[in-house]
Amino acid sequence: MPGSKEPQYQKKPIVVNETAGTKFYCLCGLSENQPYCDGSHKGTNCSPVRVEIKEDRRVAYCGCRMSKELPFCDGTHTYL
Ligand code: FES
Repeated sequence: MPGSKEPQYQKKPIVVNETAGTKFYCLCGLSENQPYCDGSHKGTNCSPVRVEIKEDRRVAYCGCRMSKELPFCDGTHTYL
């Protein structure tokens, strides 16, 4: 892992009023701009997840990174 940053996982979704377009979801948890990749994964074996948002809408991104529907929350955090 680059530097001494700790992954920012949480047991709840990251809810965003999302705009349409291409987004890159941070899978490593190291980004300081959650839920989006800021390049902090460099040097790890993680890569961001590309997601196409077709229209402006409220999105619940997975905060625990355990969802089976990544990058979206599927409620898995309630069992952790
Ligand atoms: S910073 Fe986490 S995947 Fe890019």
